[in-house]
Amino acid sequence: MAQTTDDQRSSGNESSAPPTQPGPSVQELLDTETRPVPAALRDRSRVPLDSGSVDRERYTSYAWHRLEVERLWRRVWQMACREEDIPEVGDHVVYDIVDDSLIVVRTAPDEVRAFHNSCLHRGTALCVEAGRSESFACPFHGWTWDLDGRLVSVPSDWDFPHIDPAAYALPEARVATWGGFVFVNMSAESEPFESYLENLPGQFADWPLEERFAAVHVCKTFACNWKVALEAFIESYHVIATHPQILGSTGDANTQYDTWPAVRHVNRMITPFAVASPFVAAETSEQEVAESMLRIGTGGEPVEVDVPDGTSARAFMAENMRSALGGSWGVDLSDRSDSEMLDAIEYYLFPNFAPWAGVLQGITYRFRPDGDDPDRCLMDIMLLRPVGDGQARPAPAPVHELGVDQGFDEAPELGGLVGILSQDASNLPRVQQGLKTSGYGRVNFGEYQESRIRHYHQTLTEYLERA
Ligand code: FES
Ligand SMILES: [Fe+2]
Repeated sequence: MAQTTDDQRSSGNESSAPPTQPGPSVQELLDTETRPVPAALRDRSRVPLDSGSVDRERYTSYAWHRLEVERLWRRVWQMACREEDIPEVGDHVVYDIVDDSLIVVRTAPDEVRAFHNSCLHRGTALCVEAGRSESFACPFHGWTWDLDGRLVSVPSDWDFPHIDPAAYALPEARVATWGGFVFVNMSAESEPFESYLENLPGQFADWPLEERFAAVHVCKTFACNWKVALEAFIESYHVIATHPQILGSTGDANTQYDTWPAVRHVNRMITPFAVASPFVAAETSEQEVAESMLRIGTGGEPVEVDVPDGTSARAFMAENMRSALGGSWGVDLSDRSDSEMLDAIEYYLFPNFAPWAGVLQGITYRFRPDGDDPDRCLMDIMLLRPVGDGQARPAPAPVHELGVDQGFDEAPELGGLVGILSQDASNLPRVQQGLKTSGYGRVNFGEYQESRIRHYHQTLTEYLERA
């Protein structure tokens, strides 16, 4: 974990640092750390962006949605599953994205492949759910492919003299892995995964997500466009109105938003916790900050703590987390900085993947359309926890699906996030509803606090303009 100097702090344009944001800044909070701070947290950057406003058709129009299918979803690298979801040869999951469906299968101990989920006889979907098998047999007439995608059985093959089995391998998508996640790409022409990831692997040098396991996996259906949901989770501007109960311990308006020069697919925010929001800081003591943060974990139940005089809530809460989490997870967190223990350090990989860094949260989000419908989407929430020192890797949690009418309170495994996610969830269908009836017809984004939204819209435009 390298400590950086002031001169190394910004890889972007220093003159474009946020001009009027209230303090303390994330960088000033890092200056108070007593442990080494990962270099990635010192990498503050901001680039000029367009997309100050976009047309609402991006969220509501079927034609736009279809353009996304053709030019986005069929061309980008997208997270399909965790490697741990398919640990043994023959283990597979089905990854659906709008009309497209891929069988993502482990074909060897160190190889994962992705086949288009469609029989080459008359088109039947070969798989409808995750499982383990030695081959893929079509339920309709029994044509069968082996794990390598070779056609190995055609009942009454005398009736298909025109079919050469060697030419009827299942069509494949490209596969790559990073951080314990499996990514797929349906286009043979689109850019290599390594360049697509840009600075993401370097940013995660101190947070190897492949060493974690998915302790929780919830997949919720929302009655909104996938971008409406995504955008609600990549800015902290909405905390003041949507999550007022956490202002006592959330530096919402102090959040640092990072975009880097020539980086199209990655951006980041760091929202400090265990510091009072600038909206309430004047009347909040360090003791109250700590109590406020603990109440998030208990879903609002009061918690009594005693922050010693002269100790900041951040230092106190970080130490509290090091011992509590280190103990319950069975890992040594003694060298982890306060920021890693406390803050929301959330990255984004275009178009729909948002893994958090640091220690405490371990959250990962994925957003995608739900079928061929611009008004519905699926949001996956995984909680990635460390595997205890010397312990065997636990099996990943099965997916807990929540329908459009089910609330997050039906997923208590999300712990302290339930209340916050429920607040976010109540906004989303209202946004979609309002967009449809908008007499104004456009959507506006703030210059800094919504810069990540501007950034990805800029990249989305580039993709959709590419014939
Ligand atoms: S449709 Fe698959 S074997 Fe006939
Ligand atoms: Fe929120």
